[in-house]
Amino acid sequence: MSSDTDGSKLFSTLGSVARTQVKGLSAMWGMMLDQLSTNHARAVAAGTVNPEGGVARTADGVVVTSKELVMQVFLNADENYSVKGYNERAANSIGPIYLGLDWGPQYEQQSTKANAAIMGVTRREAFEFALKETRAALKALPDPAAFDIQNISDTVLAAVCKNWFDVPDGEFVQAGGFALSNILPPARCPADYTYPSAYIFHPDPDVALTMLGERTGQLLREAVGKFLASLRAAGKIPQGALSRAFFEAFPSPEDNDLLARVIIGAMMGMLPTVNGNLNATVKAWQRTSTFMALQGKLKNSSQTDEFARAQEVIEPALQQEMQMAPTPDAVWRTAVKAHTLGSKNPVQVNPGDKIYVSIIQAMQEDLRAGVTDVCPVFGGNRRAAPHPVHACPGLEMAMGILLGITYAVVDQQSGSGR
Ligand code: HEM
Repeated sequence: MSSDTDGSKLFSTLGSVARTQVKGLSAMWGMMLDQLSTNHARAVAAGTVNPEGGVARTADGVVVTSKELVMQVFLNADENYSVKGYNERAANSIGPIYLGLDWGPQYEQQSTKANAAIMGVTRREAFEFALKETRAALKALPDPAAFDIQNISDTVLAAVCKNWFDVPDGEFVQAGGFALSNILPPARCPADYTYPSAYIFHPDPDVALTMLGERTGQLLREAVGKFLASLRAAGKIPQGALSRAFFEAFPSPEDNDLLARVIIGAMMGMLPTVNGNLNATVKAWQRTSTFMALQGKLKNSSQTDEFARAQEVIEPALQQEMQMAPTPDAVWRTAVKAHTLGSKNPVQVNPGDKIYVSIIQAMQEDLRAGVTDVCPVFGGNRRAAPHPVHACPGLEMAMGILLGITYAVVDQQSGSGR
């Protein structure tokens, strides 16, 4: 089924809404986009069973829910699973990325330097940058105490991207919050990264998500490609620590498209995930007494270094929320070998089976057992040996950004006077 033809009517309706600059309608567009991705996530979560033994065959494929089996699938020690399905989808969107390549020379060639550069960003460095930007964003509000976390996220994440990736550059890619995504140029950051990500990583995207994911991904590939070509034409190199490291890893102008995909892939790894975990965390704190309780703890902390205070007071609560409501809640694999999975109620897996890796169930198993571990939401711990091939290289950077923003919004109301 071709989504381009089947969805053309919906697409043109969406386009006309997007073109309308009336405030009410663009807010409606934002809400609709939001609905699409959250509803989709909820549908996936609701469809997930929690079988005894941690694995079950369902009508849609093999669902893996226990922490042990989720980590076993991520580690993939027997090479039973492939990530190739990601690139089958990415090909029509942002273009193939190394997260969609199984381990081998091509994966190594594309990923080694890029992942090393990402792993070089420390939690403290990311914390300090995010803290500074969040404080500036709060200060610009008429009433900082009445902040909207999505708003703060949009502003701070655009600044984070500009600092580490040179994008948004203001010309080819413009700064624009998640609700500003639309299917027309110019590309927007962080807005346009949500739909390719949801489309590629959710196990079962529907037609609307497929169309949005393909279209916004194409916009990004073209825009970042043009941005890089214009830098090369001007004899310039990127200023961001990560975009510069990637640029040096792929110095030939012939690699321009590959370089654009590496940059977009890393940004896509970061943006919707940080945004999702941030929103879920802060909104949960605001709904309960946690927000005020954390303010009290910050006031009473004897730590003088802000990073240490944030780690002492905010980080445990942040990790717990990430375990409760992680983004991504699930990812997927394709089985490539016949094998049995699980020991209690094992499931016979056949080549071609789709494997749903339920991160949310694995995280909640830990929560129930009183274990604090956010590694499953990052696809494993890349610093452990052995580690899953695709485990996130951005864990430290991501936790630093999340910590910087959450600390800043809690701290500004704690009366500590910073
Ligand atoms: C809360 C924030 C983040 C979460 C929850 C997250 C989650 C993940 C997950 C689950 C994977 C593995 C997917 C799979 O195995 O199917 C992954 C891979 C990846 N992430 Fe992250 N990520 C986050 C932040 C970041 C950041 C900040 C960056 C870079 C700036 C990044 C870049 C990447 C890259 C490049 C990969 C692919 C690694 C490879 O295939 O070698 N991520 N991430």
